[in-house]
Amino acid sequence: MPSLSEKKEEVLKGLLTQEKSLLPKYFYDERGSKLFDQITNLPEYYLTRTEIQLYQELLPSLVGTIDLNKLCVVEFGAGSVRKIRLILEHLPVEAYVPIDISSDHLNIAAAELSREYPQVDIFALSADYTKPSELPERFDEFGKLGFFPGSSIGNFEKKEAESFLIGTNKTLGTGCRFLIGVDAKKDREILEAAYNDSSGITAAFNLNMLRHLNATIGSDFDLSGFQHEAHYNVELGCVQMHLRSVRDQIVNVGDQEIAFAKQELIHTENSFKYAPEEFAQLANNAGYEVENLWQDEKKLFSIFLLRSLN
Ligand SMILES: C[S@@+](CC[C@H](N)C(=O)[O-])C[C@H]1O[C@@H](n2cnc3c(N)ncnc32)[C@H](O)[C@@H]1O
Repeated sequence: MPSLSEKKEEVLKGLLTQEKSLLPKYFYDERGSKLFDQITNLPEYYLTRTEIQLYQELLPSLVGTIDLNKLCVVEFGAGSVRKIRLILEHLPVEAYVPIDISSDHLNIAAAELSREYPQVDIFALSADYTKPSELPERFDEFGKLGFFPGSSIGNFEKKEAESFLIGTNKTLGTGCRFLIGVDAKKDREILEAAYNDSSGITAAFNLNMLRHLNATIGSDFDLSGFQHEAHYNVELGCVQMHLRSVRDQIVNVGDQEIAFAKQELIHTENSFKYAPEEFAQLANNAGYEVENLWQDEKKLFSIFLLRSLN
């Protein structure tokens, strides 16, 4: 996990540039993780229910296809470890490594899962998945299935997504497989509604980043001084989330003063959307081939099963 000074440095790097930005991983403390769970149940947020329905349909057909000896699932950004339960119901999983940056939330969720599945060796890893991580040696002999649901791959720029996948190929090892949920390109109205819900939960989630930074790096963002915005950029194929400063203001981050003009934006998240062939190309570039692809009837969401070419 990054030290406090690394975190402060990273935050200042994003705020001291012409177009201010903060990394989406800072949404997630205990409160942010709980707000995200609420988002997944919102009527406008089609992503989670569509993805879960796809797993329910496809997982029975994966029995026998995932022919890995001693199956260990490694999940990147496991959150509340909800979707792994679907895999545990269908595949002979012997070990599970959920990785997440929101440590307290992960540890509570993983402990609950251990009680439900005492036969599975569960090792919760509090880490930043954009950095290389080592799995415990006891899993060396296991065949690895990577799991990255929730279209979190869309939070990376395309080149970063490729680097991330190359990194997972190293972490998971020769012959690994990877199950990954990816949101598809679609009408602007559907996308913008999903990221601007009518009950304001996504707005609270976006603003929580500032609360989280105030609590951890001692900044003094006034949450009433910023407003949530989310727009679909069609050219980029990306929903972009921002916080807009509602007035001229100064924010202190340690002994550094950051000036915000009225209407100035902080870019907080990209959610890139992928046509299936676009994502297949990206996975190929990262050393994976597409073994299978599933989409729902309306083609809102895609699930890829990848096989490492290494
Ligand atoms: C969009 S949520 C998805 C949660 C869950 N996988 C799902 O599909 O519902 C992203 C999750 O990834 C975690 N996360 C975000 N950035 C991370 C990073 N750089 N390293 C590790 N975990 C991260 C967050 O804490 C959160 O639990």
